[in-house]
Amino acid sequence: MKTVVITGSARGFGYAMIEEFYKKGFNVVLCDINYEELKNAKKKLEFFNKKGIILSYKMDVTNEDDIIKVIDSVLEKLGRIDIWINNAGVNQPMDPIWELSSNVINRLIDIDLKGTILCSKFIMPVMIKQKSGAIYNVEGYGSNNATMSGLSIYGTSKRAVTYFTEALAKESKDNGNYVNVGKITPGIMITNFIGTSMGDGDKINLSEKTKNVYNILGDKPEVIAKYMVDKICKNKSNNAKFVWLTTRRAVFRFIGAMFGRKNSYFDNKE
Ligand SMILES: NC(=O)c1ccc[n+]([C@@H]2O[C@H](COP(=O)([O-])OP(=O)(O)OC[C@H]3O[C@@H](n4cnc5c(N)ncnc54)[C@H](O)[C@@H]3O)[C@@H](O)[C@H]2O)c1
Repeated sequence: MKTVVITGSARGFGYAMIEEFYKKGFNVVLCDINYEELKNAKKKLEFFNKKGIILSYKMDVTNEDDIIKVIDSVLEKLGRIDIWINNAGVNQPMDPIWELSSNVINRLIDIDLKGTILCSKFIMPVMIKQKSGAIYNVEGYGSNNATMSGLSIYGTSKRAVTYFTEALAKESKDNGNYVNVGKITPGIMITNFIGTSMGDGDKINLSEKTKNVYNILGDKPEVIAKYMVDKICKNKSNNAKFVWLTTRRAVFRFIGAMFGRKNSYFDNKE
């Protein structure tokens, strides 16, 4: 039975992917900084009563000791880790750079970028020793070089996550090619993330225009998780990239919206 670890998996996209893997018969490892959400997530999963083992850890991806403890404990209990997904991430307050506090800037880069780097640093040697494994990093706004006012630090971190993932895939290839490193590009998901900054911080006030775009292009995380987990289970190559919101899908959504086909996640006047 294969084992998957997902960071930031107490809710949202991380949880939705964990549920899909569990339903497919994997052992699953929930890890998240939010202990209360973690307990709820474990209970929700247990309800499905599948054969896989469920482990759950309070873990901050910015804390080396937390990461090492999780890896050591999972290896002790289950013997190996087949898939590791760096998903934990926070959104920023939608303000220009000069209005953000240094604490916010540092914390966001620590979680969204350095968390992904640190987890990869510690799990990579484990997978090389196993002579197999896969690491996937979650991209986001900015990964494709797009810029938007109010998303500068988040976009910088995700652009760097993209570079880092490609660099790690190359290092894997040059060191035995035992580990497949890839990117997950989820598009727009209707989760806590889009309306709250810094995890469980301040509310983000979405403009009417943004709400309208989210109604057209956004999807529930479980829809995207199903697609991504299928892709991950089938993938056999290094440096893969799985994209949900392709240009084609976006164009069809906008055409559909002209004929009134859009979701109503948010009430808006446009
Ligand atoms: N929601 C979107 O539209 C969207 C779009 C593109 C990419 N993403 C990315 O998807 C990923 C998941 O986001 P989501 O939408 O599910 O958000 P979410 O807020 O629902 O879930 C994020 C999870 O990460 C956890 N987390 C935050 N800081 C942590 C830390 N230091 N250590 C461990 N866990 C931590 C939170 O507690 C939460 O459970 C993020 O990387 C985000 O950047 C989201």
